[in-house]
Amino acid sequence: MAAVLRSKSCVLCLLLVVVSVSEGKVKLIQDQSACEEPQDGTVTVRARTPPAALGPEPGDPADTFTVRTLDGEFSYRPGSLGGPLFVHAFTNKSGFVECLWSSEESLSSLVTGLPDSARVLFLSQDESSVSDALWMREQVLQAAVSRGKKEVMSRLHFSPVPMFMQGNWIPSVFYFWGGVSRLAQVVFSSEGWKLPVVIKRLDARYDWLTARWGQSTYELIDAGDGCDPSPSVAGAVAWVSESNCSFFTKVQSMSKSNASGVLVYALSGNPIQDMNCVEDECNTTLSIPASMVHTEPSVAQALQSGQPVFVSFQSTPSPTTFFCIDHRGTLAEIGGFLYPSFSFLNWQAQWFDFYADLQIKLKSPAKVVPVFEKVLMQGDKGAVATVDLPSGLLDFNTLELDAALSCPGKRDLTCAHWDHTVQLYVCCDPAGPYCNTELGRWITAFRRGIGHWLTDVSPLLPLLDGNKCTLTMKTVPWAMPWFTSLNLRFSISNQTGNGGEKPRPVRLMPLYDGGTFDKNYNKRFQPIKFSVPARTKKVELYAVITAHGSDENECGEFCVTSHHFLFNNVFNNTLVFDSAGSPLGCTEQVKDGAVPNEHGTWLLYGRGGWCDGLQVNPWRIDITKQLNMSSSQSNTVIYFGLYEGRDPNPSKQPGYIIMSSFLIFYE
Ligand SMILES: *[C@@H]1O[C@H](CO)[C@@H](O)[C@H](O)[C@H]1NC(C)=O
Ligand SMILES: *[C@@H]1O[C@H](CO)[C@@H](O)[C@H](O)[C@H]1NC(C)=O
Ligand SMILES: *[C@@H]1O[C@H](CO)[C@@H](O)[C@H](O)[C@H]1NC(C)=O
Ligand SMILES: *[C@@H]1O[C@H](CO)[C@@H](O)[C@H](O)[C@H]1NC(C)=O
Ligand SMILES: *[C@@H]1O[C@H](CO)[C@@H](O)[C@H](O)[C@H]1NC(C)=O
Ligand SMILES: *[C@@H]1O[C@H](CO)[C@@H](O)[C@H](O)[C@H]1NC(C)=O
Ligand SMILES: *[C@@H]1O[C@H](CO)[C@@H](O)[C@H](O)[C@H]1NC(C)=O
Repeated sequence: MAAVLRSKSCVLCLLLVVVSVSEGKVKLIQDQSACEEPQDGTVTVRARTPPAALGPEPGDPADTFTVRTLDGEFSYRPGSLGGPLFVHAFTNKSGFVECLWSSEESLSSLVTGLPDSARVLFLSQDESSVSDALWMREQVLQAAVSRGKKEVMSRLHFSPVPMFMQGNWIPSVFYFWGGVSRLAQVVFSSEGWKLPVVIKRLDARYDWLTARWGQSTYELIDAGDGCDPSPSVAGAVAWVSESNCSFFTKVQSMSKSNASGVLVYALSGNPIQDMNCVEDECNTTLSIPASMVHTEPSVAQALQSGQPVFVSFQSTPSPTTFFCIDHRGTLAEIGGFLYPSFSFLNWQAQWFDFYADLQIKLKSPAKVVPVFEKVLMQGDKGAVATVDLPSGLLDFNTLELDAALSCPGKRDLTCAHWDHTVQLYVCCDPAGPYCNTELGRWITAFRRGIGHWLTDVSPLLPLLDGNKCTLTMKTVPWAMPWFTSLNLRFSISNQTGNGGEKPRPVRLMPLYDGGTFDKNYNKRFQPIKFSVPARTKKVELYAVITAHGSDENECGEFCVTSHHFLFNNVFNNTLVFDSAGSPLGCTEQVKDGAVPNEHGTWLLYGRGGWCDGLQVNPWRIDITKQLNMSSSQSNTVIYFGLYEGRDPNPSKQPGYIIMSSFLIFYE
C-alpha cells in the first residue's frame, strides 16, 4: 500500500502514509522533495521556504496591464473587474494541457460551469501563438454553441501574442511560479539515430493507476492493440494502440504479461486522452505505470523493421500554466489540477465567490475579540492565547469563529501536506465544568494556505463562563506547521421567525463523545436522565461528529455511518454521512468554503462528516417538542452509531469517531 506512493527512502513519509492513506485510496499527491533523509540517518521533514522575493508572489497587488487579443485588446486596471481574472499560458508541449483542451468533459465544464463573476485570459507560451489562440477560441466556441452557452465567450479573451513577446509583467508570474511545474516526457533511442526522440506524455489518472515511471531504461516492444496478453513484453514497456478495447483492458493484459509499463499511442489525428478506468474496472488494482502519447513515426518504423528501441522517462521544468487575480486585485495561485479538466478553474472561481461573500459578512457589525494573528500551530502545544471577553457578554446571542489557516511561506508549496483534524478548546473557568471543551473543529487542506471560514457556534456561548479565557488550537503533533488566525465575533441576531425576542443559550449539558468504532462502540454509551431547567424556552441537540480511520470497509473516513440520539425512547434523531466515499463529494462544498484544488484527493471521495479544508459544521436539532419540559419530570437520551444500520464489527484496524455533543438550554 505504501509502496505505491514511492517514498521508500523516506521513513517519516512512510509513517505518514500508514496513518493517512486509506486502503486503496491515494490521498496525497506525493512530492518527494518534501521528504529528506540526510546522511546521518536522521529524518527531517521541512517546509521549503521560498527565496527572498525576487519576483511577484501570491498576495501582491496586480498592476495594470494591456494585452492584444483576437478581438482588439484586453485591459486590466485594479478595480476594473467585479470578479476574478484567470490567466492561462497554453502550451502544446504538455500532454496534460493538450488533454485539458481536447477533452469534451473539460471544455463542457468551462462553458457551462464558469461562474458568472469570472473571466479568463488565454495566452500561449509558444511561437505558434496565433494558431494556438485561434484554435483555443474554436475549441470553446464549438463547445459553447453546442450547449447553448455562447454568451460565455464575452468573458473569455484570447491573445495571439506569445508569452515571450508580451512585454508586460504577466510572464514573470508564469516563470517565477513555475517551481513545481514539469513537462512529462518519454525519451526513445535506437541504434543509428543521431539524437533521441523526446515526446510529451500524459500519465494515467493518478488515483486509478498509482504506479509511476522510475529512472530505468526499458526495451520497447510492439504489442498491437494490447487487448490480449503477449508474453513477448515481459520486462519491457509495451507499445500499444488506443483501439479495440478499454485502457483498463490494455493495462491489465500487459500487466498479466509481466510488462514493466505501457505506452498507449493515439491513432493519427486523435488527441492524448486522460486514461482512466470505468465502473467495475475500477474495483481491480493494477500496479504498472501507463501513459498516453502520440504515435511517433520514427519509433513505429524502427519497431516495424525489427530494430530495437529503448525508452526512458523524464520531466522538464516549465513555467506554470495558470494564475489568477482575485476580486480584490491580488495575485493568487489556482492550486493543483488532479486531472486535465477546466472544472478545477471553476472550483477556484466558486471559492473566490465564497471568499468575496465572506469579506462582506466579516464587515457586518460585531464585537470582535482577536485571539490568534498568524500564530504558529505545531507540536503537542498547538497555538495558545488568553483573551479578555467583552463586558456585557449576556447581551449577545451569536458567536462566530472567524478562522484561517495559512502556511510558512506565501506559496502553497510551503504548506503542510496532509488532511488532519484541527480542534479549538476553550477554558474560561479552570475550576468550572466546561474547562477545555471543544469550541470548534476544522480539517486542514492538503498543501493550500487559503482556507478561511466563519462558523456559527452560538449554542456554545455558555462555555464562556468567565471573563478571561484561554483558547488552544491543535492538530496532530507530527503535522508540519500551520499558521492560525482566529477572531471571536460576538453579535446580536434578531431572527426568531415569529417576531419575539430570540432565545439565548444559557446552559449546556455535555452528552457523549465518540471512540473506537468497533463492535463494542455502542456498549460504551449509557442512557442519560435529565430534566429541563425552569424557564427554558427551547432545547437543542448540538453535535460535532467526524469519522476517521480505515477498517476493511474504509470506516470511518470513507464509509457511510449513521449517528442517532434517541429521546424518551421514541424520538430518533439521525445524522447520516451519506456522501462519505462518493465521487466528487466535497466539490459540492467549495461554494461553502471547502478549499478547492488541494494537492491531494480533496474532491474524489466524500468523507465521514467532513471535507478537506473546511470547518466541521455543527449538527443542530430543535428537540423541544420531544421533551417533557416541566422541570419536575425527567427525560432520557441515548446515543448510538451504526455502520449500514448495524453495530460496527470490523475485522481489522477499526476506525474512530470524534464527537462532542451537548444539550443546549435556551431562555
Ligand atoms: C498538439 O500536438 C499534437 C501532436 O504533438 C498535434 O497533433 C496537435 O495538432 C497539436 N495541437 C495544436 C493545437 O497545435
Ligand atoms: C483491432 O482489431 C482488429 C480486429 O481484430 C484488428 O484487425 C486490428 O489490427 C486491431 N487494431 C490494432 C491497432 O491492433
Ligand atoms: C509473469 O511472471 C510470473 C512470476 O514470475 C510468472 O509466473 C508468469 O508465468 C509470468 N507470465 C508471463 C505471461 O510471462
Ligand atoms: C465493484 O465495486 C462496486 C462498489 O463497491 C460494487 O457495487 C460492484 O458490485 C463491484 N463490481 C464487481 C464486478 O465486483
Ligand atoms: C436587531 O435589533 C437591534 C435592537 O433592536 C437593532 O438595533 C438591529 O438593527 C437589529 N438588527 C437587524 C439585523 O435587524
Ligand atoms: C415524557 O414525554 C414522552 C414523549 O412525549 C412521553 O412518552 C412520556 O410519557 C412523558 N413522560 C412523562 C412523565 O410525562
Ligand atoms: C433510529 O433510526 C435508524 C435509521 O433511521 C434505525 O436504524 C434505528 O434502528 C432507529 N432506532 C430506534 C431505536 O428507533
